[in-house]
Amino acid sequence: MDIKTEDIQSLVEQQNNWRGKECLNLIASENTQSPNVRNIEVNDFMGRYAEGHPNTNDEDRRYYEGTRWIDEIERIAEQEIIELAGCQQADVRPISGNAANTALALGILRGGDTVVVNSIEQGGHISHNPIGVVGRRIQKRGQVLNLGKENSIDLNFWPATEDGYHLDANACVDLLEKKRPNLAILGKSLFLFPEPVKEIAEACRNLKIPLLYDGAHVLGLILGGCFQDPFREGAHFINASTHKTFPGPQRGVILGNLQGEEELKWWTSIDRGVMPGSSSSHHLHTLPGLVIAIREMKVYGKAYAKQTIKNAKALGQALDDEGVDVEAKEFGFTESHQLALRVTRYGEAKKIARHLAEQNIICNYNQLPGDPDPGFPSGLRLGVQEMTRMGMTENEMGDIAQLMSSAIKGKKVLKEVGNLRERFNEVCYC
Ligand SMILES: Cc1ncc(COP(=O)(O)O)c(C=O)c1O
Repeated sequence: MDIKTEDIQSLVEQQNNWRGKECLNLIASENTQSPNVRNIEVNDFMGRYAEGHPNTNDEDRRYYEGTRWIDEIERIAEQEIIELAGCQQADVRPISGNAANTALALGILRGGDTVVVNSIEQGGHISHNPIGVVGRRIQKRGQVLNLGKENSIDLNFWPATEDGYHLDANACVDLLEKKRPNLAILGKSLFLFPEPVKEIAEACRNLKIPLLYDGAHVLGLILGGCFQDPFREGAHFINASTHKTFPGPQRGVILGNLQGEEELKWWTSIDRGVMPGSSSSHHLHTLPGLVIAIREMKVYGKAYAKQTIKNAKALGQALDDEGVDVEAKEFGFTESHQLALRVTRYGEAKKIARHLAEQNIICNYNQLPGDPDPGFPSGLRLGVQEMTRMGMTENEMGDIAQLMSSAIKGKKVLKEVGNLRERFNEVCYC
């Protein structure tokens, strides 16, 4: 019997045309992959298993046979990302940034431990917070977790400066010395400015506290050499997604810069957090694309990261010129691919984001620092990394600002959005 596929094919085609060709995609956590990365994703690795680590001539390190070629690809991926990041260890098996965070938390933490993170209100990610793996999933054996009870993680938040977009480095170090946590986590989802890694890493190294920098959003900017360099500043780990500013397949990575017996013990624990802790087989078919994306970033990463940040700053200025409230104006709006807009003057952020999407301007509503109720966020978060990858420069940021400013005020700009987007339909930097 013929299986009906036309309806599903048609939905996929509509998605390909809509998000792929017609929209101004400004979601800060997404990207478009190069044709080479996309094309290689349809392969026989889809649905195969490769748990454990690549076999060597001397050692059987997998739990299944038939892994000859994925062994080689996994070794190449590890080696090449280590070279690009200038670090000591890499685990390329996590299937996303969240899975990387889960693996690290499962490996390092135990019930009753103390952790310092960015709160959601100050831009931190849910995986580090009360409802994520750090807040909720780590508990003493045999006990049901209740946040705030003695068997749960003692979760503490980094002190921020008054503007809400920076950390107060001295106060952070004081907190570390007072709390002596089992894990310190920097990095955010709303990530406009570098973190004070150097100061915090110095304290962490003195106190032997593992320091994770969650670079899910900014990995491409870091590897392009245009944001901060957490390893050179002293972080032990960088966890990241490989599909945001790093424009590869949808996966994750744990990078380590560990030396000496004590630090290497952390890597052994995290290994078990990756498998079986957070995944078994690791969506093997997307791994060849990761290697291609690493090679693209080796050649084009610097130019891509530089243009992305230039575009974000230009869009911030252009939106400000249009009278839209762009956060952190006194700091030049941003140092990353992101911008935060405060839109309460025009209505509810959630409704505005929906109206923008109806005009094919795709972004997300977002809680901003100081918002009293996460259910009623007052902001929009924008990211320019995808439109930069499609070839847009500062020249187009003024056009985007005009369209956004009109749409935020409730106007219809669908046709004009289409006219702008249709000029940018080829992936660049690859
Ligand atoms: C800081 C941070 N960490 C982790 C993640 C999760 O990454 P992924 O979506 O790849 O699971 C995100 C997602 O946007 C994030 O912003």
